[in-house]
Amino acid sequence: MWPHCLFLFLLLHETWAEPETSCHLPAESQFFQLFCTLLLDNVSSTEMAGMALMGDVPILALDPHTWNINICRPWAQEATAETEIAKILSFSMVGIRNMIRFAHEMAAKAGLDYPLVFQIHAGYELYPNGTSWSFVNIGEGGRDLVTYELGRERWVPQRSTPLAELVSHSLTDLRAVSGFLDHIFSVILPTYTPILQKRGRTDLERQVPPMAVVFTRTAGPAQLLLVCRVTSFYPRPITVTWLRDGQEVPPSPAVSTSSVLPNADLTYQLRSTLLVFPRDGHSYACHVRHCSLGDRSLLVPWENPSVSSTVGITITVLLLTAVITGGVWWWRRRKHAGSGRNSRTFLI
Ligand SMILES: *[C@@H]1O[C@H](CO)[C@@H](O)[C@H](O)[C@H]1NC(C)=O
Ligand SMILES: *[C@@H]1O[C@H](CO)[C@@H](O)[C@H](O)[C@H]1NC(C)=O
Repeated sequence: MWPHCLFLFLLLHETWAEPETSCHLPAESQFFQLFCTLLLDNVSSTEMAGMALMGDVPILALDPHTWNINICRPWAQEATAETEIAKILSFSMVGIRNMIRFAHEMAAKAGLDYPLVFQIHAGYELYPNGTSWSFVNIGEGGRDLVTYELGRERWVPQRSTPLAELVSHSLTDLRAVSGFLDHIFSVILPTYTPILQKRGRTDLERQVPPMAVVFTRTAGPAQLLLVCRVTSFYPRPITVTWLRDGQEVPPSPAVSTSSVLPNADLTYQLRSTLLVFPRDGHSYACHVRHCSLGDRSLLVPWENPSVSSTVGITITVLLLTAVITGGVWWWRRRKHAGSGRNSRTFLI
């Protein structure tokens, strides 16, 4: 059951990945969303991937081989059993088969060539003030095709192509589909979403502080790439910046930050790089802010060897003084205590 949830999470994640910098708690609004991808290889073969998420935690996942829908978490299982969703899931195979038949029918009527990819993205967001926002979008070939207008029970084309017109008319004519969607968005999800949020609180509102390391890569004859790798944090919003002599390095081509990527354990990672001239005599540090750290932040300095040599000399002089003044015992103890650490990280 679990591997599918995980695999689909990693696979589908990029479809909704957006760069974020602020640090909102996920509990502020309750967001349920569903992703489904249909790959039509040819007239007789279809592959499917699908999953539903609460926030960014997988709740339901479609088994790509059997097309059974698996429930990913024990608390989601309990929440599902409490609502009408359980009944809907028991009919899911019929729905999936109808959907696939419909997709092939549209492809044939519009005279499209295989292979084809259709995507469905639906969502329901319940705000703290009690209002909600719902949407259902269908895409084809990676671009929007039609979108559902909930209040008016009709599908609106998102491009002016024969396929978009055809799908919008055909779906709008299927009154059973509109009736089903209205029931889902006005009755089922307003109940299911708060139950999921309540039962899944420990997963959905968890905070895992980031771990960060700084290392280097050679970038040119006199240049070095400082890499700050930040991982194992949750929730997703995070801010990573570089400090030069304690001052934030402004955005420039020398600074590059990756998008936030998922880890297999439902935490996230990213890396930020800074191109430096190591002989410039400056000190550098990676600065990480995340809501799990509260008002504090993580500071990982990079030991610039051209600066450290001076520090090294100072330490040697101090040690000599220590030896001379009979501080050998103290030094050995200090050395022993510090030997387990290979990288310094500070909470500031
Ligand atoms: C359809 O595609 C599948 C998977 O790519 C392939 O195994 C099968 O032979 C194809 N069938 C036809 C009729 O082309
Ligand atoms: C409720 O909250 C949402 C999101 O913060 C906002 O967009 C909407 O306007 C609010 N509605 C009312 C009636 O306050």
